[in-house]
Amino acid sequence: MAGPDVLLIGPYPEWDMVELEPRYTLHKLYEAVDRAAALREIGSRVRAIATRGELGASAELMMQLRQLEIVSCYGVGTDAIDLSYARGRSIAVTNTPDVLTEDVADLGVGLLLAVARGIVAGDGHVRSGSWSSRNMGLTTRIYGKRIGIVGLGRIGAAFARRMEAFGCEIGYFGRNAKPGSGYRYFADLTELAAWADALVVTVAGGAGTRDLIGADAFAALGPEGIFVNLSRGTTVNEPALLEALQKRSIKAAGLDVFQNEPNINPAFRTLENVVLQPHHGSATVETRRAMGKLVRDNLAAHFAGSPLLTPVA
Ligand code: 8YV
Repeated sequence: MAGPDVLLIGPYPEWDMVELEPRYTLHKLYEAVDRAAALREIGSRVRAIATRGELGASAELMMQLRQLEIVSCYGVGTDAIDLSYARGRSIAVTNTPDVLTEDVADLGVGLLLAVARGIVAGDGHVRSGSWSSRNMGLTTRIYGKRIGIVGLGRIGAAFARRMEAFGCEIGYFGRNAKPGSGYRYFADLTELAAWADALVVTVAGGAGTRDLIGADAFAALGPEGIFVNLSRGTTVNEPALLEALQKRSIKAAGLDVFQNEPNINPAFRTLENVVLQPHHGSATVETRRAMGKLVRDNLAAHFAGSPLLTPVA
């Protein structure tokens, strides 16, 4: 190994590791038996952190790395990185926007259809042989329905474009109206939920959106309403979501993200009116390859003194 010292917080796919190994002196924090001792040993040499969206980089970690210059994040969400601490020390932060947008939106459509059309239940019905003795119950249409999007950013807009092709009406909630979108703006989240047949969350995680969707929104969405979360578990008040699903005060949910992943609240596993995914929005070979390349290209640009490709403001 040669090159600048880089601290890896979690592993990347092999195709990234083989590119990183010859260029950097890699320190794999996830392999350290004694994390504190490992950090003490390398703390004065590490110039870069390469992390993942869900692993981030805390102030407490960065404090131990006195030569830290950059945090390169594999993921668009930087909610697990202490950005204000990084800013205070002029540590650059990069993420992987755009390259994952379309795949996350695709999974959102998949989840919405899976929930509404009972695709997982239908699969079970056929596999179990139940079909020979009874027909499966009817499901819910998505075509032409009202879709409420929480956060019309890159992913929200990509999701909206897809739903237009389903003849859906699109409404959205966010800090600001985006008149150019042509979609209906709701300044109030509960009003959006009351209007929508399906509420889909694509807003960024972090302190500003913690528990953004709670009991009021679920009550407004109502017993025929479908809820889909593609963003972060933290944006939703999970006890309120679980209660709404258990009491059927909303119809069903498609969830790709949870609090405390991967050790999610086991109550989700007991529900019949959910389709669950293991935080897989960006998890295609194509997107993950592009994310890995962007992490590496940002590191390379930084160490070459060139402009970063995707700096986080
Ligand atoms: C990844 C993500 O699951 O982009 C994000 O913010 O949550 C995801 O793309 C994650 O960062 C991969 O480890």
